[in-house]
Amino acid sequence: MKPKFDEVMEKRRSIRTLEKDSRITRETVEKAIALARHAPSAYNAQTSRLVVLMGGGHAKFWDIVEKQLRRVTPPGAFARTQKKLDGFRGGNGTVLFYEDMAETERMKQDFPTYADKFDQWAQHNNAILEYALWLAFAEQGVAASLQHYNPLVDADSAKEWNIPETWSLVAQMPFGRAAEEPGPRTFKPLDEVVTFYE
Ligand SMILES: Cc1cc2nc3c(=O)[nH]c(=O)nc-3n(C[C@H](O)[C@H](O)[C@H](O)COP(=O)(O)O)c2cc1C
Repeated sequence: MKPKFDEVMEKRRSIRTLEKDSRITRETVEKAIALARHAPSAYNAQTSRLVVLMGGGHAKFWDIVEKQLRRVTPPGAFARTQKKLDGFRGGNGTVLFYEDMAETERMKQDFPTYADKFDQWAQHNNAILEYALWLAFAEQGVAASLQHYNPLVDADSAKEWNIPETWSLVAQMPFGRAAEEPGPRTFKPLDEVVTFYE
């Protein structure tokens, strides 16, 4: 039975240690993306782009991350990083979230009154889509997390997957079967983050 909306909201957690699950297929991802596409974007401009890496492409991406991180990590300090990367690599795939900045430039031209807002809105568009996909994965029992190895990996990824020059990498979402239990989620006191006036 499909989980209810409140269950999906609570089930979505950052799961960073992943395993492969043969039940998670391209169709699973396509179904999640079809749902996530209901995410709103400023002026409905749909400026975000997704690249889904599964199989060899997924492994290749984490090889790129590892190669680039090794370049900037002091020797001997890599063991923890390696363990973390292996947790992502263990999954079924990774979604790369891009923003097509050419679209954002077009929006600035078309709506000059808001020209100074569109860069910020591009990030909002992407973030909302990221969350929507994360929830859509959670609904199907697919574990995921949100990672940010950009800009370290941008050039290698662009070369490997023929990414257009105007696309800017914003986030990476490795996904698979959960191989860890998340700890309890903590919340700040409500009155610190919400103010009501009635
Ligand atoms: C904008 C944003 C950036 C984040 N960046 C990272 C990241 O680079 N690496 C990571 O492991 N988690 C990242 N996270 C995950 C948060 O740490 C996590 O969502 C938060 O601690 C709450 O835990 P939960 O996702 O399990 O509910 C990010 C989350 C958001 C919203």
